[in-house]
Amino acid sequence: MSKPRPLIAGNWKMNGRRADGLALAEAIRAGAGSLAAELLLCPPATLIAQVGEKIKGSGIALGGQDCHWAASGAHTGDIAAPMLADLGCRYVIVGHSERRHGHGETDALVKAKAEAALAAGLIAIVCLGETEAERDRGEAEKVVARQLDGSLPKGTSPDRVVIAYEPVWAIGTGRTPSNGDIEAIHSVLRRDLAAYFPEADRFRLLYGGSVKPNNCEDILALANVDGALVGGASLKELDFLTIARTCH
Ligand code: PGA
Repeated sequence: MSKPRPLIAGNWKMNGRRADGLALAEAIRAGAGSLAAELLLCPPATLIAQVGEKIKGSGIALGGQDCHWAASGAHTGDIAAPMLADLGCRYVIVGHSERRHGHGETDALVKAKAEAALAAGLIAIVCLGETEAERDRGEAEKVVARQLDGSLPKGTSPDRVVIAYEPVWAIGTGRTPSNGDIEAIHSVLRRDLAAYFPEADRFRLLYGGSVKPNNCEDILALANVDGALVGGASLKELDFLTIARTCH
């Protein structure tokens, strides 16, 4: 089975005003050239429309960082998946650890959000990952298996869902798991997917958590790693493009 096309996703989080966000999108567009990997930009909601204009026609995909589980309604401050689709988004991240831990999101909620994403025609990037305490207790594999089981939406298929393994303790810290530990978790994910989906090899399994130009080559070469979800390094065009160019 041939490997899926890698995905390099930039999660800008709550960063960027109009001037620097649009300059970043423009620089990434200008520098991207033709890449083996698919590139995805997930700007803050305030910039999605304008970043979308900047990257229109470039082949670079646009995504949201979160969505609500409902398609519309009285949910002050939230953004519905059809609104993201309306702005030209192809993807939406759901279940990022900053949502799970910062906003108390459960597997059931993440699953409902992912189902809303699919219903709106978006590809859901479902994030999971253990905390440091869970890893220290030797529970990392059990935790991600449980999150996978609880968070995958109805209608999951390799074309509609991407999985991102992001150990909570590696996000924004400069620390990463060993290559062996990343491979171990990714092989658990692939094995568990294979129990339900005959085309499990076609799912893209991203690694996220302190991916930088100096470690991306090793990480992206690991078995069952089909791309990266990049936070901090996605805010610097050279770093982000260096990571993207590592994919072959
Ligand atoms: P980081 O963030 O690359 O800054 O660690 C990754 C993420 O949270 O998606």
